[in-house]
Amino acid sequence: MGQVRHHDNFPSTPGKVKMDRSNYFGRVTSRWHSTASARLLGCSALLLAFALVVLFRVSSSSDLGDGGYFSHSDVHWAFKPTRVWEKKVRQSCLPRREDNPMVVLVTGAAGFVGTHVSLALKKRGDGVVGIDNFNSYYEVSLKIARQELLAKHGIFVIDADINDAFLLKTVFELVQITHVMHLAAQAGVRYAMENPGSYVQSNIAGLVNIFEICKAANPQPAIVWASSSSVYGLNTKVPFSELDRTDQPASLYAATKKAGEEIAHTYNHIYGLSITGLRFFTVYGPWGRPDMAYFSFTRNILKGKPINIYQGPNNKDLARDFTYIDDIVEGCVASLDTAEKSTGSGGKKTGPAQLRIFNLGNTSPVTVPTLVDILEKYLNVKAKREIVKMPRNGDVPFTHANISAAQTQLQYKPETNLETGLKKFVKWYLSYYGDNTPHESLVAW
Ligand SMILES: NC(=O)c1ccc[n+]([C@@H]2O[C@H](COP(=O)([O-])OP(=O)(O)OC[C@H]3O[C@@H](n4cnc5c(N)ncnc54)[C@H](O)[C@@H]3O)[C@@H](O)[C@H]2O)c1
Ligand SMILES: *[C@@H]1O[C@H](CO)[C@@H](O)[C@H](O)[C@H]1NC(C)=O
Repeated sequence: MGQVRHHDNFPSTPGKVKMDRSNYFGRVTSRWHSTASARLLGCSALLLAFALVVLFRVSSSSDLGDGGYFSHSDVHWAFKPTRVWEKKVRQSCLPRREDNPMVVLVTGAAGFVGTHVSLALKKRGDGVVGIDNFNSYYEVSLKIARQELLAKHGIFVIDADINDAFLLKTVFELVQITHVMHLAAQAGVRYAMENPGSYVQSNIAGLVNIFEICKAANPQPAIVWASSSSVYGLNTKVPFSELDRTDQPASLYAATKKAGEEIAHTYNHIYGLSITGLRFFTVYGPWGRPDMAYFSFTRNILKGKPINIYQGPNNKDLARDFTYIDDIVEGCVASLDTAEKSTGSGGKKTGPAQLRIFNLGNTSPVTVPTLVDILEKYLNVKAKREIVKMPRNGDVPFTHANISAAQTQLQYKPETNLETGLKKFVKWYLSYYGDNTPHESLVAW
């Protein structure tokens, strides 16, 4: 455990060439796609990218400047909508219910939470289209499998980056998006020490791009997006309430989520966007994230490999307010259902708009050793436990949600305890992987 897979946050998927200038950390990231036919294109694009790197290094100033980032993104993504593509987007967005259906753009749709939320919306008859860049932060095959699952249910997931303004504009022109469920992000706390740029790129620049597109749309959609319980950082008062301070993040991940909440305030204030931020508390379940501890524990226990169990100061066990995916989905859908309309028009605010923040947790923290007990029971294998002092890398010793705001305003009521939820996870894990598990993965909370 603790092995880190090295990768680039912009991996390969077929179809297009993308480059973007990243003026925050003074380097240019590039992503190229590699179907056999696109390979040659990729090579020449690489050369071009190289030339651009040199060019931009020379010409770019270091600050964000007056919209420089966005004015460039149109140029650099070589996306061209085809008839087939347009048809897929339209069909995916077709609602199947009469009573006030929504048409939802789900970002991060090939991700863990995005997949479940997309399915739930589609099942009740809403129109849904997804977007995901299929980056290799964790195994891409799992994201593709989720995409295939969604395709079976009539949901199209566009393979693109949320920073691609031109593509997003094209989607908004093609269909009338009423809501955006924004879940795309660079997740994970520890990986931020390895690849800080990916957090800035997806969680800050990407978020701003989403808000820019929504602001300009007519009518503007309402937005629900994923913040994180990690914004509570070094707080010790429990349970964590939305009224508590959130100005002492313990990781860059947390800092980017906190920044997102402030950026949301700005877009709500200036442009009248209706925005709801959701602070998720350690979400787990079927189709979950391999970089998370419950997942990698399962993997290693089955392989007979030792697992590291971290302890905080004074040998205290770490505890998490583990929240089952179905409960999170309920909270997300209820947020969409109760979201008021944005008030802006033509990029201008016409009146005050809704701005909300909710904790979505389970309200009953469980220690890590207890989590392992439950996994042992359902896997029917004894874990090789290694107790290790928690390194100072961004993890906090415990989380515990106060969910009274979500209870009263969203009728949010978590129903699945860790025991029941892990049983369902293990069942899925064994059916998806057999007991044949692939490779090491980064561990996160
Ligand atoms: N799972 C949790 O415990 C948890 C807790 C707190 C907050 N969150 C937040 O909830 C959201 C969903 O998390 P998840 O667990 O489903 O993670 P996930 O990594 O499975 O899903 C995120 C998806 O977004 C995609 N993505 C990342 N950057 C992108 C970009 N620039 N453009 C397009 N797609 C991009 C990824 O490929 C991935 O499929 C994230 O915003 C995450 O920060 C999750
Ligand atoms: C829970 O949070 C609400 C605000 O959402 C606050 O009014 C209440 O006092 C908190 N309860 C506890 C026990 O901290």
